[in-house]
Parts: sequence; structure tokens; C-alpha cells
Amino acid sequence: MKKVKDIYKEFCTVDDAVKFDFETVKRLQSVYSNKLKLELSGAKYFVRAENATLIDHEGNKHVDMMGAVGVMTVGNNNPFVWEQIAKVWDAKCYSMGAVSYHNIASALYRDLALTTPGQKLTKAQTAGGGAEAIEGALKLCKIANRNKPHKTKILATIGAFHGKTTGAVSAGGKDTWQAYQGRLLLDETFHIPFNDVAALEKELSKGIYQGFFVEPIQGEGGVFVASDEFMQKARELCDKYETYLVCDEIQTGLCRTGKFWASEWYGIVPDIITFAKGISGGIMPLAGYIAKPEVFDAAYGTPETAFHHTATYQGSAYACAAGIGALQFMLENDLCGEAEKKGKIIKEAMLAAQKKYPGIIKEIRGRGCLIGVEFNPTKAGLEDKYGPNWAMECERYFSTEFRIQIMHSFNNPKVFRWLPPLTAPMEDVEYALKAFDASVKHVYDLANK
Ligand SMILES: Cc1ncc(COP(=O)(O)O)c(C=O)c1O
Repeated sequence: MKKVKDIYKEFCTVDDAVKFDFETVKRLQSVYSNKLKLELSGAKYFVRAENATLIDHEGNKHVDMMGAVGVMTVGNNNPFVWEQIAKVWDAKCYSMGAVSYHNIASALYRDLALTTPGQKLTKAQTAGGGAEAIEGALKLCKIANRNKPHKTKILATIGAFHGKTTGAVSAGGKDTWQAYQGRLLLDETFHIPFNDVAALEKELSKGIYQGFFVEPIQGEGGVFVASDEFMQKARELCDKYETYLVCDEIQTGLCRTGKFWASEWYGIVPDIITFAKGISGGIMPLAGYIAKPEVFDAAYGTPETAFHHTATYQGSAYACAAGIGALQFMLENDLCGEAEKKGKIIKEAMLAAQKKYPGIIKEIRGRGCLIGVEFNPTKAGLEDKYGPNWAMECERYFSTEFRIQIMHSFNNPKVFRWLPPLTAPMEDVEYALKAFDASVKHVYDLANK
């Protein structure tokens, strides 16, 4: 057998990669991938991760209060999830589950169905990421309505984020991500203001919508919680006008808000739920959608349509094992309870800082451990130095002085978001909250100098 280095001298093996120094990693990613993305986001280089602890290449500990934007629900590198993946390797299972019977994929579909509101959503298909799950849900709405020529459109909300593929940016309510791509699906997508019940009724009553896509909390948009009235009316009107209610729970689902699915806060059962992020513990790429069986079958229950949404890695065994492991861990360790308990502590401390240092924080929003802090505009005259609002300086101070991973919302940069692992030890949460207090004080002192 030839050695790969004899074929390509510069081929990097995994053995090489795990020993790379930072300079090598930086050079390779800059030359061979998206240099600017990493530079502009102030990316760090972490070499180890365990629960809410991240270790950088210089051996410094960072506390993770962002969990890769809500992915690390069960903590970084959750050992239980890894053990489940290893079992699939030990059994030498066939790894592909898209168009074959598969033990591991079948178990994940069953388990997911058990968790859904009222156990009414029972048919799922997996995907590789959130946006692909949204594409699947969009197609499901369209294909299920194929014999209803008056149903021509998708309804969504302004400020929504559903991912960055063609359909997902069209359903998303942020034109930044729709730029440079022609008309996308925009001619058949209409956006109403989030939480605007009158607009919802006006549009749905037209009877032309195949699906209404909504996040129970607009996460990327700046952590805006849907009102009870909006979600309950959405359910009622979607029933009345025969529109599928699609809850995008990619950020809010899987215990994040203190319920398994955030839809449960409203006492409603969506027709379709999309999921991603926490589903695989951040170890394998896994996402998907789950639907009521009659909705799923209306789309894929005929020989003509059964193959209309297949993808190579649907039902991938290792990803599904990670999914089963993460679900089991969430249920056995009451991560919904953890989200509520920790979220309450975090919010209370933030409210105290808001009161203690007046004029800096505008609002604290969210549910469970999906929390957004909206900052006020920077004091006049200091914008050039600190940006248009205090979020950036507070975030900079917080993350560099105290080494805490946090990130503002890309779609609404005056809001910075906390999405900690729900397993984060209390001492890490307390450390982050003390750092938060000190960071708001730092900004307050700048504003009052
Ligand atoms: C609500 C929501 N939908 C969809 C997505 C897209 O997911 P992905 O980045 O995995 O494509 C995200 C990602 O942040 C999200 O928060």
C-alpha cells in the first residue's frame, strides 16, 4: 500500500491535525477556507471542550455561555452521548439509513415522537443542519398541498431567522441574507410583523397559505418571545383556513426554554416542528422535521411523492445514535428543569445589574436558558469608539477580561445572547454572572465619566 505522503507530500492526516499549532491552523483555514468570516467574528482557537469549559491553544480556560449558539444543550463533548455513538461502532452497524431499514434511525424516529406535544407528531425525517430541515418542512407544506391550486404561498414573520439556504432565507425575515440571489422564493412568501395578531388573521383568512412558519422565540432576531395570543391564534386560524402551522424550534426546542418544545408553553400542537442544534449534543451534524402523520402522509404517502425529499445522509446511523443519546440524557437529567432553574437565576442577576447601573441595559428577554440582553445606544460622542450601542463594548470586556464565550445576535447586534449548556456547573454560571455585573459596570463607568 502506498503512503498518502508519497502521493501528496502536504496531505494532512488526522495524526498531523491534532498536533497542529495555532499558526498552522490559521494559515490553512485562511488559505483554504473563509478567512474573513473567522477574522470578522473574532474567532478563537479551542483545542479541548468539556461541558461548559473550553480550553484555548494557550491553555487558558474559557467559560462557555453560548454553547455554539445553543447547540451544546447537553454540554460540550457529553460523555454519555459519545458512549452511545461508540456502541454503533462496536456493533459495526451499517452507517446509512436514508433508503434502507435501519435499527438506529428507527429508534430515533420513535423516541422523537414520544417527546412531541401530546405525542401527536410522529413522522420524522432527519437532515444535516437546521436550514436543510427548514427546506424539508417547506417542501412538505408545498407537496402536501399539491392538489389545492388556491394554496400558493408561505407565510412567515419579519425578523425571523430560519437558516441560509434558498428556501430558508426566503422564509427568513431579514433581507440581508436574501441579497445577491435573485428572487429566491420571495414571490411566494409573505412576511407579517411578529406578534401582530391582526396581520396574522388578515393574511391567513385569504386561504392561500400552505404553511405558516414561526419561531416561538425569535432567537437570532434578538430574542423576542411570541405572545400567548399570537401563538394560540395562529393555531386556531391555521386550523380554520387549512394552513399548516410550522414551529421552527431549531433554537427553542429540546429543553432550551424549560419545556421540551417551546410550543408547549402555549398549549398548542403544531403540525410540523423543525429541530437541530441540541439534538446531537453538537457532536454529529443532525437536524430534521417531525410532523403529524396525516400531514406527512399527505406529502409523502403516494408512490409519486414518496421520494420527493430524500437525502444521502438522512437517517445516518452515527448521527442518529448521537440524537438518541442526547434525548435520553435530556430526559434522564431533567434538562427542562435545569433550563428553568438556571434561566431564573441568570435573569434575576441581569435584572439586578440593569437596576444597579441605570441607562445601559434596555431590556432583558427570553425564556429558560435562551436569554437576550438588549443594550441602549452608546452615549452621544462615544459611538466612534464603542459602536452604536453598548452591546459591543460590554461583550468585548466580558469575553476578553473574563474569558467567557458569548455572542451578540448577528441579526440584531444590540442584543447579546446567553445560550449556556443546560448542564453548566453552577460555579461557572455564578462566575459568568459576576463577570456580567463587572462588564455592565465597566460600560456604566464609561458612560458616566
Ligand atoms: C430558529 C432557527 N432556524 C434555523 C436555523 C438554521 O440552522 P443551521 O444553522 O443549522 O442551518 C437557526 C440557526 O441559528 C435558527 O436559530
